[in-house]
Amino acid sequence: MSSAGLLQPPRGMRDFYPDDMRRREAIFAAWREAAARFGFEPYDACVVETLDLLKRKGGEEIAEQLYTFQDKSGRDLALRAEMTPTLARLVAARQNELSFPLKWYAVAQCFRYERMSRGRKREHFQWNLDIVGESSVAAEAEVLAAAHCALGLLGLGDGQVVIHVNSRALLSELLSLAGIPPNGHAAVFLALDKRGKVEDATVKALLAETGLDPQCIEAALRMMTIGSLDEAAAFLGRESPALRDLRELLRLLSCYGLGPRDIQFDISVIRGLGYYTGIVFEAFDKAREFRAVFGGGRYENLLKQIGGRSLPAVGLGFGDVVIGELLARQSPTAVPPSDRDMAVTFMDDSQRALAMRLARQLRQAGCRVDLALTSERPKAFFSRAARSGFRRAVIIGPDEAQQGLARVKNLLDRTEETIRLPALNDGT
Ligand code: HAM
Repeated sequence: MSSAGLLQPPRGMRDFYPDDMRRREAIFAAWREAAARFGFEPYDACVVETLDLLKRKGGEEIAEQLYTFQDKSGRDLALRAEMTPTLARLVAARQNELSFPLKWYAVAQCFRYERMSRGRKREHFQWNLDIVGESSVAAEAEVLAAAHCALGLLGLGDGQVVIHVNSRALLSELLSLAGIPPNGHAAVFLALDKRGKVEDATVKALLAETGLDPQCIEAALRMMTIGSLDEAAAFLGRESPALRDLRELLRLLSCYGLGPRDIQFDISVIRGLGYYTGIVFEAFDKAREFRAVFGGGRYENLLKQIGGRSLPAVGLGFGDVVIGELLARQSPTAVPPSDRDMAVTFMDDSQRALAMRLARQLRQAGCRVDLALTSERPKAFFSRAARSGFRRAVIIGPDEAQQGLARVKNLLDRTEETIRLPALNDGT
């Protein structure tokens, strides 16, 4: 590899310089704040999992995208591509001690060997919000309202991101009506989820691979033209449990202040992960320029599948990449301000000990202090401090030292004051 190549991270991975970290931290802070406001507790786990937990049957794309490896003892391991199997493992392992419903969140780095595109990297951070142990749609409402709260904290709450919601249970009712037996529905979902991502002919071929005859394929594609809950009811010829859940979800979300500009029924939302069983959702920017901002749904069987007791669960994953792009489009040059508080310097070595004592005293009082490592001239110091985002610049020169004072310049409003220096022999 050329030496220039060595300076780049591997394809699809990102570096975070301090400006990037501030942007990233602003997103994480909104996620954490929204989770806390909605009573979710944080959890975490190692980014490495056993391949047994992560590998899947059944044609999901994510199974092909795993970064797998063997450790030196020959164990088959993988980097997690999502947090949900890990969450299921954590819950199943302590199912008898935990109290339900539990509301947990994590900010987890995930790795997927994806085809690189706008909004898709090979590594991303994902905010996961999950409620385990609640079967009513109150759980979906709470999770979606929390995600909407995070959007609001990021300045994207006023209909700029729209949640598209559907239900695999509704799709199952429709597929059954078309004569497709329930044991084939999961495979049909994964094939239908490819609509819009691959050619229509490929979708038809995938549906045929699931064993559907041409008539059933047409019926499955026809149901994808349903545009509203009322139309779905007309298609079914009745109100159904799945329709009732969707209507109830929209009603509950209106109590949280989410209306039609925030959330819409969308029959095309199916999701590419096999474990969803009920309501599913994906959020997109209003103009549909970007990939999904977040996605999730109800999964009732995953805990049992990995060896736990059966428990209802609902959750979502909200990545940092698309939201970062949306925020950058909104204000291309904006970098959240630095929270660097004070820079302290001295003009020559004879004031170094005073500067160190002052920095120590200020740090003990809780100030964030960057102490100069070498002496500086005032002009160079003040311009460095302003450039680096400090709020206050404190300088000790020979005159100040003699008077037992330091000069403090407020770099935001350009005012100046003096503060008393700790005496060299005061034992602090
Ligand atoms: P997912 O739809 O695969 O769901 O991912 C959720 C979100 O993670 C996406 O909407 C997107 O924001 C982000 N994301 C996924 N892959 C990438 C990528 N390659 N690059 C950048 N961002 C990405 C899940 O992962 C489910 N486990 C979510 C969930 C939690 N369901 C229930 N609980």
